[in-house]
Amino acid sequence: MTYRTIAEILEIRHRHVGRNLSVSYTEPLKIVRGQGQYLFDADGRRYLDLVNNVCHVGHCHPHVVAAGQRQMAELNTNTRYLHDHLAEYALRLSETFPDPLSVVFFVCTGTEANDLALRLSRTHAGTKEIIVLEHAYHGHSPSLVEIGTYKCEGPGGEGLAAHAHKVPMPDPYRGPHRGEGAGSRYADEVRRTVAELTAANRPPGAFMAESLIGCGGQVIPAEGFMAGAFDAARAAGGVCIADEVQVGFGRAGSRFWAFEALDVVPDIVTLGKPIGNGHPMAAVVTTPEIAASFVTGMEYFNTFGGNPVSCAIGLAVLEVIESEGLQEHARVLGEHFLAGFGEMQPRHRLIGDVRGLGLFLGVELVRDHETLEPADSEAAAVVDAMRDRGFLLSTDGPLHNVLKIKPPMVLSADDVDAVLENVDAVLTMVEAAS
Ligand SMILES: Cc1ncc(COP(=O)(O)O)c(C=O)c1O
Repeated sequence: MTYRTIAEILEIRHRHVGRNLSVSYTEPLKIVRGQGQYLFDADGRRYLDLVNNVCHVGHCHPHVVAAGQRQMAELNTNTRYLHDHLAEYALRLSETFPDPLSVVFFVCTGTEANDLALRLSRTHAGTKEIIVLEHAYHGHSPSLVEIGTYKCEGPGGEGLAAHAHKVPMPDPYRGPHRGEGAGSRYADEVRRTVAELTAANRPPGAFMAESLIGCGGQVIPAEGFMAGAFDAARAAGGVCIADEVQVGFGRAGSRFWAFEALDVVPDIVTLGKPIGNGHPMAAVVTTPEIAASFVTGMEYFNTFGGNPVSCAIGLAVLEVIESEGLQEHARVLGEHFLAGFGEMQPRHRLIGDVRGLGLFLGVELVRDHETLEPADSEAAAVVDAMRDRGFLLSTDGPLHNVLKIKPPMVLSADDVDAVLENVDAVLTMVEAAS
């Protein structure tokens, strides 16, 4: 393999790769190796990866790598042939879901999973009308860009499709409804939208939301919102789609699926990112009733979805989550993070809000605790300074002022202490300079 410098790679990317993709950091990193919770650059420098929720059980986990290598050397073909791995994986995956979620569709990316979820809901409910959360991102295909305001109301976007109707993100810190009862007031917004659509003879066929909200700024939905929203959508004949592409597979800590921590059972759940620990695979899980509606005579075939290599890898990921107790580990470390950030909050004027569930956390930085003026440049400065100290963090949220933490689940308690200690020091520095 030819070795190229950062400047050479950037130049080749500039000439030969679509330019719509930004590169992390002003001084980009050339990462050449990953192991567990760590990434290593071309000079051998080690970084703690705090944002990559794809390599769920750790970068290059040996059990997952071995499963993939073994199966690649034996067979990889499509799902029109019978294979044990697909049957085993469908069984094992569906065992992790509450009834009646028991039918699996195999796809390759989160976008494909959400696209298929739209098709399933449209076929079942007989309409495209859908209610979505503001600032949502569900994927990059046309059908998802036009319902995801993170994209369609951002630069280059063409606005929401006529069949998509947004409701406020149930953000209990910055959103329009806060404090006691905020969740039910956010759910009222869904009820109102459902009522308006129904009165206009366009009842919603679906309500779609991430169980925990990523691009919106690591938001844990206001308590009671999801149950109220699901009830409202279902009362009008709509189905409820939970996007667990970022947050599933034990990350929420207390439960395997984040929707379970919100006390709801969706009708369709979409899975991606962590499902294959970096191998491109994804899935949709739904009820027998919705799956039956999709049997219209038109076949659903996916060239790569559910192939023996993907299923071997998916099985290995489930095995590691269980054998290494990673769900409970996420719960314990998540509490450790929340306690640590909570302890430092009174000492740092920039920390406006600390929130999280398991290893899905956000620290929102503000300049003023009354106006909540977003501290976006300060958040960027924290990320840069942390990188210099060997920690890879990033910002998220519509105002770019939320430090997001969603690391590989094999992070250690010592790693958490090191993160807390360094964020504390870096915030002191940034606050002194701002
Ligand atoms: C919540 C959510 N849904 C769907 C997707 C799309 O997944 P993919 O990039 O695998 O197509 C993403 C990707 O960032 C996501 O964060």
